[in-house]
Amino acid sequence: MCGIVGAVAKNDIVTTLLNCLQCLEYRGYDSSGIAVLEAPQVLRRLRAVGKIDNLRTALQDFPLAGKVGIVHTRWATHGAPTEANAHPHFSQNEIAVVHNGIIENYYELREELQGAGYEFHSETDSEVIAHLIHKYYQKTHNLLQAVHLARQCLSGMYAIAVIHASEPNRLIGVRQGSSLVVGFGENGHFIASDCVALTSVAEEFIYLQEGDLVDIYDTQVVIYDNECQLVEREQQILHFSSEAIERGVYKHYMQKEIFEQPYAVANTFAECLHSNLISDGTFSVAAKELFPKVKRIQIVACGSSYYAGLVARYWFEAIANLPCRVDIASELRYQKTVIEPGTLLVAISQSGETADTLAVVRQAREVGYLAWVAISNVAASALMREADLAFLTHAGIEIGVASTKTFTTQLVVLFLLSITLGEYNGLDEQRALQLTQALRNLPAQLEQTLVLDAVLQKLAKKFITKQHALYLGRNICYPIALEGALKMKEISYIHAEAYPAGELKHGPLALVDENMPVVVLLPKDELVAKMESNIKEVQARRGEVIVFADSSLDCSELGDVMVIKMPEVIKEVAPIVYTLPLQLLAYHTAVQKGADVDQPRNLAKSVTVE
Ligand code: F6R
Repeated sequence: MCGIVGAVAKNDIVTTLLNCLQCLEYRGYDSSGIAVLEAPQVLRRLRAVGKIDNLRTALQDFPLAGKVGIVHTRWATHGAPTEANAHPHFSQNEIAVVHNGIIENYYELREELQGAGYEFHSETDSEVIAHLIHKYYQKTHNLLQAVHLARQCLSGMYAIAVIHASEPNRLIGVRQGSSLVVGFGENGHFIASDCVALTSVAEEFIYLQEGDLVDIYDTQVVIYDNECQLVEREQQILHFSSEAIERGVYKHYMQKEIFEQPYAVANTFAECLHSNLISDGTFSVAAKELFPKVKRIQIVACGSSYYAGLVARYWFEAIANLPCRVDIASELRYQKTVIEPGTLLVAISQSGETADTLAVVRQAREVGYLAWVAISNVAASALMREADLAFLTHAGIEIGVASTKTFTTQLVVLFLLSITLGEYNGLDEQRALQLTQALRNLPAQLEQTLVLDAVLQKLAKKFITKQHALYLGRNICYPIALEGALKMKEISYIHAEAYPAGELKHGPLALVDENMPVVVLLPKDELVAKMESNIKEVQARRGEVIVFADSSLDCSELGDVMVIKMPEVIKEVAPIVYTLPLQLLAYHTAVQKGADVDQPRNLAKSVTVE
């Protein structure tokens, strides 16, 4: 969480830094701040509670100017979102630091530094970094050495950017567990939490590796590893189309990203499918050796990615004939589990930065997994770079905090993976072809669901006055009920719960009355009759039922329910298709409630802390 940017430039950099920071607002948006070196020994800062626009407004009254600076957008962990807790943090008006991550031993360090006479002005864990660097600067009079010494005292995960009033052309960054990239631009050199922030100022980038320290001095960029040894890192040229990061005709990024799904899904399978056969290179050459050895699957993820994993469990078991277990990363990392020989660990994370998911995969070899596969939307993320096999979802940049196209494209990859593993495990060739054909049909079917937009906008009116909503699904669509409820919760703040429909009478039915909208997913499968009984149970308690039903089903017997006709699809791909209308329903509800759709309260897009 939190986003940081820093620069050493040829011209005034304040506006550029803020523009870059705005691209990182998805990482946190409860306060922001800037520090610049206006002249040697003149370090100034401004901080504001709330979004970056508040900082822009504050800068109109207290303008800053300088060629060297650092900026930060915060997602609070230690200490409330107040101005005092906002970054940059100073030490003695000489050092300014911005920090993304968590310093686990901050309490001990704070006591030690207080004992040495340092005064603290915030409740954050981050402020210790500034004072610690100051302490070592007193001894070394060299910022590079001071940062190097200070980092050896820090435990936890962090990316930091540091400037010093006495070293006016220098910016130092450290990557230790949280991402940091270096961007090379015409007007100077930059560091940032994500290269998305630097698309307008740089085309060449270096993704720092774990433990790297970058020293930007004037126009020079030098990188050291954890041991302070000089290292060379590969410089990459990346081109970002401005379309990818602009909202275009859409009111919100989330809306744009929902509507991009037919294309994102097609893009994700495009390179893998040739005449409905999954091409050999799809899961890399190493997969050919590895996949025949796979005897079972362990999936690990958080949030929506975990729900994608729950859908995939059905695919791995039914298509690939492999036993599969799915766990939430924050649970699995502290759990003693029995890992059977031949278990493939599959880690799913749209950001590729989620701290808990990374913690699980980093223990993978030690605890005995056969290998681990990463599925992410960010090619340069730690998850993708460290994996034995990495599969990129080609969703394109997702800016809305709630995941939409990254979720459906994760499902596409998991579906392909289950067919590929199935091929090593007795999956019939004709069945494999039927499944890949179903995948090919998806973009058109997703387009059909988007036509429901106006209907769902109208339906949302029913939800805006409600406090609660219930989502029901069964089997492979139960995780989609979970995902639909999560979308509703996180952007509209309506309490939405999902249940496997068969569980209804074991408790949640007690909640149903005329104030409870109940969303039911009714794809065409062998459980239709069971679902119809569940709908009747809700109707008998005067619950208001909204059914998303396969168009080939005759729903006339359901009586007084709202039926939304979905495209006819085979049950295996229903989870992908049924996701979209639930996203739209949540989106329109949130818009009509006046909520901040792209940046829902208390959340952030990449969860780099535990
Ligand atoms: C919900 C959402 C979150 C993420 C979760 C895991 O819309 O986006 O629940 O799915 O924070 O994040 P990743 O996938 O980046 O590991």
